[in-house]
Amino acid sequence: MANPTLLILAGDGIGPEVMGQVTRVIDWFGAKRDLAFDVSHDLVGGAAYDAHGTPLHDDTMAKALEADAVLLGAVGGPKYDDLDFSVKPERGLLRLRKEMDLFSNLRPAQCFDALADFSSLKKELIAGLDIMIVRELTSGVYFGEPRGIIEEGNERVGINTQRYTESEIDRVARSAFELARRRGNKVCSMEKANVMESGILWREVVQKVHDTDYPGVELSHMYADNGAMQLVRAPKQFDVILTDNLFGDILSDCAAMLTGSLGMLPSASLGAPNADGRPKALYEPVHGSAPDITGQGKANPIACILSFAMALRYSFDEGEEATRLERAVEKVLADGARTADLMGPEGGTPISTTQMGDAILAALDNSL
Ligand code: IPM
Ligand code: MG
Repeated sequence: MANPTLLILAGDGIGPEVMGQVTRVIDWFGAKRDLAFDVSHDLVGGAAYDAHGTPLHDDTMAKALEADAVLLGAVGGPKYDDLDFSVKPERGLLRLRKEMDLFSNLRPAQCFDALADFSSLKKELIAGLDIMIVRELTSGVYFGEPRGIIEEGNERVGINTQRYTESEIDRVARSAFELARRRGNKVCSMEKANVMESGILWREVVQKVHDTDYPGVELSHMYADNGAMQLVRAPKQFDVILTDNLFGDILSDCAAMLTGSLGMLPSASLGAPNADGRPKALYEPVHGSAPDITGQGKANPIACILSFAMALRYSFDEGEEATRLERAVEKVLADGARTADLMGPEGGTPISTTQMGDAILAALDNSL
């Protein structure tokens, strides 16, 4: 059988630096675990704009639709701030999400024991934290029409539309319930049904999917503002949080910071399964392009490496190998390996991006 294919879109800023370490990890699995991938590389975001005048070339879009999984680094940077909205680096990422129809975005917020002191919350509130945010990713206010900036009388009006169909809510709710069954069996759905009709429909459809097909999963509903408050008050009350595109964007950054460093958190964006049962999928770290540290060898590659672990689990059904990689990361952190973003108040000497890669590869070797 042919090897599964991976398309790597390293993107901008620290994207290429952290992805450099991921490719070493991918090679390790090929050499040591008989798990070889056919890897190809292409451009996205500002890098694609510089080369082609568009943040995502049509050929790249076609390759992404063909690949068994896409790994993305980061997009954007100050150099592109003044570009027209339609060609901003972020548009490349949004086009990938939309055209691959990646409606279910999984963002785990997990606290590594070795880093429990890094949270801005008290240690006991976050030690052992393990939340999964399921964010709807292809609809809502990010894509709703009408949108734009129009003239009205003697002033301009900015317009965006929050829009959800029943089927869009239904399919993302199912993915949250399926996931919950394999974890803590609890889903908390968040919207603003108190002020938004789309929130009322969201709540109704989620409840119906639950009652019809997942009655064994514990379901609760919360207004998203209360959800944000509960996330910083008592985050361990949550298992799976299900929410829409915009609330999910905000709540997932909030949940991510509970763990102390954005440099640690991976994500998976999944679509409907293909004929072979494998979902269309894109994996990316939650952190951005970090222009302030780009090119200095300081970036933490762990979020991007853990995104590859999610690819092993969700695209390639290699849960055990994913766990092996996650354990290797835990081990190097427990042994005290720290990139600059993980320097506590007590200080110390940070290691470089490549040294973190070295440490993780050594821990993988030790796992054999
Ligand atoms: C994210 C990011 C993106 C979003 C940007 C880069 C378009 O913030 O993935 O959370 O808003 O979805
Ligand atoms: Mg965001």
